[in-house]
Amino acid sequence: MNDVQLKNPMYAELDRVIDSYRDAKGPLIQVLHRAQEIFGYLPPEVQQFVSQRMGIPPSKVYGVVTFYNFFRTVPQGKHVINVCLGTACHVKGADRVVEILREELGIGIGQTTEDRQFTLSAVRCLGACGLAPVMMIDEEVYGKLDRAKIKHVLQQYAS
Ligand code: FES
Repeated sequence: MNDVQLKNPMYAELDRVIDSYRDAKGPLIQVLHRAQEIFGYLPPEVQQFVSQRMGIPPSKVYGVVTFYNFFRTVPQGKHVINVCLGTACHVKGADRVVEILREELGIGIGQTTEDRQFTLSAVRCLGACGLAPVMMIDEEVYGKLDRAKIKHVLQQYAS
């Protein structure tokens, strides 16, 4: 831990988390989960901290972080858009929804807009297949999406 990290309560908490897994087997994913809860995302310095404290090569930590799409390496936006890529939504044009969102927001899945308003994520079935294609923004579900509806919904959140 460097001096800056030493004074940062979030690193102190992460340090305690790592200590608590000291005797556990294969705890890297759990530690990274907790680290993401503490920091909100997993920037390179946090990955490096985990790597050093757990004695795991940085490339392995990075490999795990990038393999699982629930880990984020950039801060989340104010609103999280989850586009459903489940079967029903796929059949009804989920790819098109992703494409429209990319055109409207300038980001792809796993990215956050520069103004930190929106983060785009993908999920498998939101349980609203009858409304396919579907997306969820924060806790709100929007179905039967087309370009006009997507634009209209985004405007509500942007204002
Ligand atoms: S497949 Fe999209 S809500 Fe079920």
